[in-house]
Amino acid sequence: MNRPGSRALLLGALLLLASAGCSVLDPDPRAEIDKPSSADTTPVTGQKIYLNECASCHGAGGEPIDRSVADLRGYQGTFEDLDAAMTLGPGGMPQFPGIATADRRKIFDHIKTFPPK
Ligand code: HEC
Repeated sequence: MNRPGSRALLLGALLLLASAGCSVLDPDPRAEIDKPSSADTTPVTGQKIYLNECASCHGAGGEPIDRSVADLRGYQGTFEDLDAAMTLGPGGMPQFPGIATADRRKIFDHIKTFPPK
């Protein structure tokens, strides 16, 4: 069992593990959005919540990632429509019970800034 070859094999396996580990630890640029800087005392903006919670499907500017997702560019819905969508989670959309009405309004105001396509 203790042949020189098995040691080389073990080393190779360790190197492989280490390089795989590196790619896992690569910083995700989107992670920045989640991280408030320690000096950040401003209240969270609708844009920030939108980027954190919605942009992964609806795109940073309302352009959907695929055709199953509603296009929010030039959104014509009311706040009640958006509120209902966040509560019910239509289609493939998740529900957002953790986002309070005040923050939903901020998200709505932010979505209303998206120009039509
Ligand atoms: C996992 C993907 C996903 C995420 C995250 C997501 N949505 Fe959606 N959203 C969808 C899909 C899919 C639909 C279309 C559902 C349907 O077919 O009715 C949709 C529809 C909508 C609609 C359209 C409702 C209407 O009035 O027609 C609104 C508004 C909306 N989403 C807002 C949001 C907001 C705000 C967030 C973040 C808080 C969000 N979504 C997060 C997938 C997502």
